[in-house]
Amino acid sequence: MRGVAILGSTGSIGRTALDVLRRQRDHFRVVALTAGRNRDALAAQAAEWRPGFVGLAQPGLNGGWPTGPDVLVEAATRPDADIVVNAVVGAAGLEATLAALHAGKRVALANKETLVMAGDLVRQAACAGGGEIVPVDSEHSAVLQCVTGRDSGMDRLILTCSGGPFREWPAARVLQATVEEALRHPTWSMGQKITVDSATLANKALELIEAHHLFRLPYDALEVVIHPQSIVHAFVEFCDGSVIAQLGFPSMELPILYALTHPGRLPDAGVRRFDPVAAGPLTFEPPRSDVFRALGAGIAAGRAGGTAPAVFNAANEVAVAAFLDRAIPFGRISDVIDAVLAAHAPAPATSLEVVQEADRWARVRAREHVRSSW
Ligand SMILES: NC(=O)c1ccc[n+]([C@@H]2O[C@H](COP(=O)([O-])OP(=O)(O)OC[C@H]3O[C@@H](n4cnc5c(N)ncnc54)[C@H](OP(=O)(O)O)[C@@H]3O)[C@@H](O)[C@H]2O)c1
Repeated sequence: MRGVAILGSTGSIGRTALDVLRRQRDHFRVVALTAGRNRDALAAQAAEWRPGFVGLAQPGLNGGWPTGPDVLVEAATRPDADIVVNAVVGAAGLEATLAALHAGKRVALANKETLVMAGDLVRQAACAGGGEIVPVDSEHSAVLQCVTGRDSGMDRLILTCSGGPFREWPAARVLQATVEEALRHPTWSMGQKITVDSATLANKALELIEAHHLFRLPYDALEVVIHPQSIVHAFVEFCDGSVIAQLGFPSMELPILYALTHPGRLPDAGVRRFDPVAAGPLTFEPPRSDVFRALGAGIAAGRAGGTAPAVFNAANEVAVAAFLDRAIPFGRISDVIDAVLAAHAPAPATSLEVVQEADRWARVRAREHVRSSW
């Protein structure tokens, strides 16, 4: 019986993790749940799972539980938690990941922003505390599943990308896309922020940076290919040219379960079994980098290193929130990111304080650019 703490239990990944755990009650028990502000959903989950700790990150939302941003670290470092599922969206998840790794936990990481902002610090925290990161993102889970149990090193990774809802739209139409159009993802059902990131392709830039840190590969060895069916999740090329891929119908249940059981596996009757005929033709095409500029901007930030990826992430978070608030059009998201990155001189990301300061700076600059769009 391994204890599982779920940070962000009311979100898309958090709720799917609980669906997975409901079928694995002989192997795991839920010891902590946290949410941002959704008190009612959290109360229903707490009544079902009766964990030892329940917390709301939004200060002052009294549900009879501890509140405030510290609840994440508290849940992530509990002695009865062996695995911490970090399903928080955005930069808010960073400190809890670091604290869990320092405390020797396995972190089942959906919160990719953690690695984008502070990949080197995350690695140091894992070394210092004996913790480990196991990715939840389907592409990175696919890579891990392809390499686990194999001795030879990877030469190249190709991460697949659905292309989002605007994959085939004319460039001028993409610039004017509405919130409703951006939230209509063709293959995945996810939270709002990552759904917009998938429409701009910023999500794939975040994932390349995540892959760079997780698998210790240079950016020249990381590629993206558009695969509208979302059946192949990643390709791994080995030194002799052999390529191994991981496939499955699009669902986060398998990557979440694998992050709990890696390097082993558990049977799961709830996962839709693969059927190549039902999957239909599988197609691949290059990304339209001229239209979806956030992809190139994020990769450039990753290559620049230091504080640049944290700045990319923060500018993107502010711009996406402004788009969802209908304060800027879809086409301005990339402009805000470009403007903030252009004004930033990257510094080595030597401490959490340096990363947080870069994050704060980028948010202020991004908000100025958003205001100037009104
Ligand atoms: N959804 C997917 O299929 C998917 C796939 C791969 C990776 N991911 C990654 O997984 C993470 C979560 O994505 P999601 O789609 O599940 O997002 P989501 O549906 O928006 O859920 C986010 C969760 O985080 C909580 N939260 C929000 N702001 C918070 C804060 N400041 N402090 C503490 N908790 C906060 C939310 O609480 P309330 O709802 O109570 O406010 C909710 O429980 C993201 O990093 C995303 O990129 C998601």
